[in-house]
Amino acid sequence: MYLQKRNRILRQSPAIRSMVAETVVTPNDFIVPLFIVEGSNVREEISSMTNYYRLSLDNTVAEVKQLYAMGVKCILLFIKCDDALKDNKGTEALNPNGLMQRSIRAIKDAVPEMCVMTDIALDPFSSYGHDGIVENNQIVNDATVEVLAKMSVSHAQAGADFVAPSDMMDGRIGAIRKALEENNFTNTGIMSYSAKYASCFYGPFRDALDSAPGFGDKKTYQMDVANSNEAVRETLLDIEEGADIVMVKPGLPYLDIVQKLATQIHVPISVYQVSGEYAMIKAAAEKGWLNEEKAIIESITSIKRAGASLIASYFAKDFIKIINA
Ligand code: PBG
Repeated sequence: MYLQKRNRILRQSPAIRSMVAETVVTPNDFIVPLFIVEGSNVREEISSMTNYYRLSLDNTVAEVKQLYAMGVKCILLFIKCDDALKDNKGTEALNPNGLMQRSIRAIKDAVPEMCVMTDIALDPFSSYGHDGIVENNQIVNDATVEVLAKMSVSHAQAGADFVAPSDMMDGRIGAIRKALEENNFTNTGIMSYSAKYASCFYGPFRDALDSAPGFGDKKTYQMDVANSNEAVRETLLDIEEGADIVMVKPGLPYLDIVQKLATQIHVPISVYQVSGEYAMIKAAAEKGWLNEEKAIIESITSIKRAGASLIASYFAKDFIKIINA
């Protein structure tokens, strides 16, 4: 054959492949989710998330120091609330000395350079396991948004750099931005879970925080898997209302949404590779059906290739260790 063009030329050695690689993931791209529990020296493995742990605050601070030393710049905090403190209104979420608020202060004190993001939603605090206030079996929007705005101010007061509303109520980004402005938190960012789908892939996360909905599902507030134009509407509105970073969640099954948004919007997009995606790779690797390291590198690189500028992932540490090896 006399071929004019041989595409394999650019694939023939590791050196050439690395020279022409279009996508490079660095430690700066990661957001590391952390699950915090009361107590001291607690390190409990999450049953459906092999090798991922709920940590008490002392162990969390040590973990954050280690993450920063590895080059991670951003963490996303979730707390597991004691059952006795749960109610329908998320009262504990506003406690200035609640576990979340104490954690933010302790972490910012120990590693001030780390960008601390906090989850804003009522589910960990809700006796119903829903992201908002329940009345007559409905999740009520506007009353929930009021609590979310107060919760955001409370996290900002404790020192959070970004609040990350994951609840999918209407109008919450505007309300949170207004509350932050009114309280003079003009440097506090908002990372909005703007295109968050009603997904079965959140199952292991709900095990981690014991936050599964007590009745029904989350389909009246989280998005329908069938839709993609709706993701654009949600995201454009959140940007208009004041979101600094937007998010698509879950990750791999929704990369079409990521790519579609990347061509239309011009704020950073984060993608959450969620607990069920983690669990699938872990479970297949444990059975010897997938090479875990390769699955980690491939899934995360694909998320970035689709248009993510930030990736929230339980594999962040593994990824960094693999590329540094
Ligand atoms: C709660 C919240 C969820 C996740 C992040 N924030 C679960 C849910 O919406 O039910 C899921 C994260 C994951 O699965 O890794 N608002």
